[in-house]
Amino acid sequence: MEKPKIWLSSPHMGGEEQNFVNAAFQENWVAPLGPNVNGFEEDIENYLQADKKVAALSSGTAALHLALIQLGVQPGDEVLCQSMTFAASANPITYLGANPVFIDSEPTTWNICPKALEKAILDRKAKGKTIKAIVIVHLYGMPCLWNEVKQIADKHQIPIIEDAAEALGSTYKGKKCGTLGQFGVLSFNGNKIITTSGGGALVCATTQAKQKTVFYATQARDNAPHYQHTHIGYNYRLSNISAGIGRGQMQVLDKHIDLRRQMNAFYQALFAPIAGVEVFSEPTADFFSNHWLSAILVDTNKTGGISREDIRLALQEENIESRPLWKPMHLQPIFKEAPYYGEKVAENLFDSGLCLPSGSNLTDQDRERIKTTIQKLFKQ
Ligand SMILES: Cc1ncc(COP(=O)(O)O)c(C=O)c1O
Repeated sequence: MEKPKIWLSSPHMGGEEQNFVNAAFQENWVAPLGPNVNGFEEDIENYLQADKKVAALSSGTAALHLALIQLGVQPGDEVLCQSMTFAASANPITYLGANPVFIDSEPTTWNICPKALEKAILDRKAKGKTIKAIVIVHLYGMPCLWNEVKQIADKHQIPIIEDAAEALGSTYKGKKCGTLGQFGVLSFNGNKIITTSGGGALVCATTQAKQKTVFYATQARDNAPHYQHTHIGYNYRLSNISAGIGRGQMQVLDKHIDLRRQMNAFYQALFAPIAGVEVFSEPTADFFSNHWLSAILVDTNKTGGISREDIRLALQEENIESRPLWKPMHLQPIFKEAPYYGEKVAENLFDSGLCLPSGSNLTDQDRERIKTTIQKLFKQ
């Protein structure tokens, strides 16, 4: 009989979610508005501790789209975007007829390289292009080199959208990811550190920006007794049912972060005696990662030839999921015409990196199966 699947990251309910969902049914708030939506937004605002206003939306992708709209991104504009990320960081740029320009990573956080970023800004400007925004990502929960990136963005007066879809609860110099940029994007997809089954949020600097976000997310209805529209709108608001799940999940967020960090510590210990395998970890005390996913880099020259793919297949054989790091956007067929600035940092990470099971709901038995499989492969 096949062994039970160990997932990279699966939903982990805390217990209270169902009560919030039941309340929605009892009060007949089965709609994309209601007390759970308001309560969930407040919970997130309180958690972020940054005097921000949060709009709950149907996905992180929707949040990115509405951030780009509010920054005035139009057809023909350019938006600089970290190449090493999930496609959802870049796709909304194209929804607006704008063009993504991809930027390499730097090796300490795997996130946007400040040097490549500045080079890109100077070169795009010299070519007469209009850069409307920079999309930065905190990959796998690891905060980017924020100060360095912000300094460059400020120098050139370009706003930053912070894609913190994977980084809820991570901090940079004590400040929560998602609160650093002009807009912050959160995701509550099924695989994220907390989930609403599907959902997201846009973290806004002001009440006005939040109101505008909600306006666009609810079909851009003008203030009139009839339906009147002066803008194109979207149907992007979060359901009150989903928000109920979110309210329950917020109660266990810090516990989940702690458990994911324990998974990272488990991998640190497991791979410590194995030459050529490095577990992704914070470069300095300024960085606190939620370790949404734990990942490794494999150097075949030091592992005696055992590759990332060998590890993935050995785990797969045991019904344990693992996955190569995000394939950089500049290597994706759909973005092959897009400009790219950098060296081969993101490409090398993609070639040698692997994400490992990281869920907060993994058991001692799961860890034992992972450990045995790895130790067998490396003949430990
Ligand atoms: C880095 C990144 N950006 C954006 C998204 C999009 O979020 P969603 O799935 O909620 O649309 C995700 C996850 O799915 C992600 O990992």
